[in-house]
Amino acid sequence: MKNEIKAEEVDKLHKMSNSILNNAKYSLDNTDEWYTTYETVAEEVSHYQEQFRGKVVLCNCDDPYESNFCYYFLRHFNQLRLKKLICTSYSGSKIEKIKNNVPISLKLFDNSGKPVVVNQGYVFTISKMPGKIDEEVNDDIIKRVLKRKGVVKKLVGSGDFRTEECIEYIKECDICCTNPPFSLFSNLFSLLVKYDKQYLLIGNQNAITYKEIFPYIKENKAWVGYKFGDMAFRVPADTQSRKTRFWIDETGQKWRSLGNAMWLTNLDTQRRYQELQLTQHYVPDNYPKYDNYDAINVRKVAEIPMDYYGIMGVPITYLKYHNESQFEIVGEANHGSDNEFDLFKPKVNGKELFKRILIRRRNV
Ligand SMILES: C[S@@+](CC[C@H](N)C(=O)[O-])C[C@H]1O[C@@H](n2cnc3c(N)ncnc32)[C@H](O)[C@@H]1O
Repeated sequence: MKNEIKAEEVDKLHKMSNSILNNAKYSLDNTDEWYTTYETVAEEVSHYQEQFRGKVVLCNCDDPYESNFCYYFLRHFNQLRLKKLICTSYSGSKIEKIKNNVPISLKLFDNSGKPVVVNQGYVFTISKMPGKIDEEVNDDIIKRVLKRKGVVKKLVGSGDFRTEECIEYIKECDICCTNPPFSLFSNLFSLLVKYDKQYLLIGNQNAITYKEIFPYIKENKAWVGYKFGDMAFRVPADTQSRKTRFWIDETGQKWRSLGNAMWLTNLDTQRRYQELQLTQHYVPDNYPKYDNYDAINVRKVAEIPMDYYGIMGVPITYLKYHNESQFEIVGEANHGSDNEFDLFKPKVNGKELFKRILIRRRNV
């Protein structure tokens, strides 16, 4: 039911936007336009239910009629006991190229009674949902609510989350929850830090080592959520096929997957308090030192030795298990120059290695 499409209902919307679509330029492998599944959102948010209670949630890269973030929070508005849900959509969104699997079929009208079109930024706000507390809201009710006059309003600008009017929504929210364009991930992160907001964001694991983000990971002010690894995304119809991590489902919807996706958050997780069980002992031959830094190289998280108290370079997947009372994050070893904590380029016996997180045991 939740992924059912009524083509005739969205057809009109698509036609209205066709001229704009035809002129749009698409990059062939544009991860900025990868759309999240309902299951991805539901699975992650289920871990933070209590923390959403009474909160104003902002999804600021999310078309109300296509985003599964928006749809998830509408369905669970009463269950999570949200205070308010705000979704803003971006005029440049390529969702029109996604033909199938739209989360819910809608025909929306803005505050002036005109149908919502895709080349315009909109904001959609809800503070009350019909239905019982603690119960999911069904699709019929969601449709009815969304069709209410005044629920969807035209923005003055494009809906770019960096614009003044959209920053006002950032200021208003408690938690920002979205999958932003990967290319603007650090811009959104920095805005949320600036306004001291909570967030739950999908990104590429590479973002961990960005200069705007790594200092927060190091200081345990930001951490990874539960899902860290493979995620599947719906992609626009003009996405080029490729041999791996690409498929077309039975409805014609194109998909891509990312092996190194993550949730980045400052909402508390239980995971952060679990101790990593260490089973290996330090044997110098198994843990060579870097050519250019006094630290040992640990190939896999499972090989972190229980009895080494100096600095260790571990794979980035370590962050999935990081417990700040067990280990201190000392820095990273990437290019040696990305930020003040990027201490060196990892090399062992002249061979360059993939980037590492540098950690040290706390309880000697
Ligand atoms: C990676 S997609 C994810 C969409 C949706 N959040 C989801 O998870 O399915 C990022 C979305 O942000 C839109 N976008 C691009 N630039 C933006 C900007 N500056 N401000 C807000 N949204 C933007 C894109 O058009 C696209 O719809």
